[in-house]
Amino acid sequence: MIKKLTLSAVAALAIGTSGALASGGGEQHIEDVSFSFELPFGAYDQAQLQRGLQIYTEICSGCHGLQYVPLRTLGDEGGPGLSAEQVRAYAEQNFEIWDPELEDGEGDFRPAKPTDNFPANTGVGAPDLSMMAKARAGFHGPYGTGISQFFNGMGGAEYIASIQTGYTGEEKEEADTVLYENTAFPGGWISMAPPLYGDDVEYADGHSTDLHHEAEDVAAFLMWAAEPKMMARKQTGFVGVLLLTLLTVLLYMTNKQLWAPVKKRAKGKSAE
Ligand code: HEC
Repeated sequence: MIKKLTLSAVAALAIGTSGALASGGGEQHIEDVSFSFELPFGAYDQAQLQRGLQIYTEICSGCHGLQYVPLRTLGDEGGPGLSAEQVRAYAEQNFEIWDPELEDGEGDFRPAKPTDNFPANTGVGAPDLSMMAKARAGFHGPYGTGISQFFNGMGGAEYIASIQTGYTGEEKEEADTVLYENTAFPGGWISMAPPLYGDDVEYADGHSTDLHHEAEDVAAFLMWAAEPKMMARKQTGFVGVLLLTLLTVLLYMTNKQLWAPVKKRAKGKSAE
């Protein structure tokens, strides 16, 4: 039994750690990035989230919505950490929201407020990015089980970054749609034109804007968007493990104590 268990554990490990097996045929290539939020006590890097927000705003939001993310959360601790004033200014300057109550019920656009969510964007059929980092967490591993995320700490953020950097430059046209070859996209051809080339934005903090840095920044931001409470979850998990460990030790000791007289008696008997 033990042997069997060990064997299957080894097998699972082998599957999890071998990139070739995990990527299902070796077609899809995902780059491993060491994000600040990966380790058990890892946290989002506030400056990186702000840079990612900038990339999303200036580039991705042209096609992709973020409709499940409330704008006010940009001010939350553990997130991009904008001040209340910055959140208000950001919302107002960047987005317009359709308000059906304006113009005597006819509806009109108005500048976004912190109480709104980021708008949806269905213009070109690009998927909403609110949950993308979580939806793609199991991007590889056998049948998308996320086993690779478990063993390698690679998940949706790596996938999103790799999509940005995975363009080969090849294009083809199929049914009037231009497809771009991309080594991270399942199937290898994506209909999104390369959104980033490097030097696409100007960062206020002077951080590098080469393609890989921009890709990582926007991926980190989208990870936060999909899981803003990751830090809290990790902390709760850690406290849980700690309490369970303590409980195990206590139960072990109680068990010893409870059975001690019985064992003593048994020993005495065998000695007779
Ligand atoms: C010009 C419009 C456009 C822009 C700008 C754009 N995208 Fe896309 N994106 C698309 C379209 C269209 C798709 C659907 C592609 C497909 O399914 O073939 C897509 C798909 C995606 C996907 C999903 C891949 C999947 O697994 O389904 C991700 C992730 C993504 N985009 C991220 C981004 C990021 C990050 C940015 C900004 C840096 C961005 N996109 C900018 C049009 C755009």
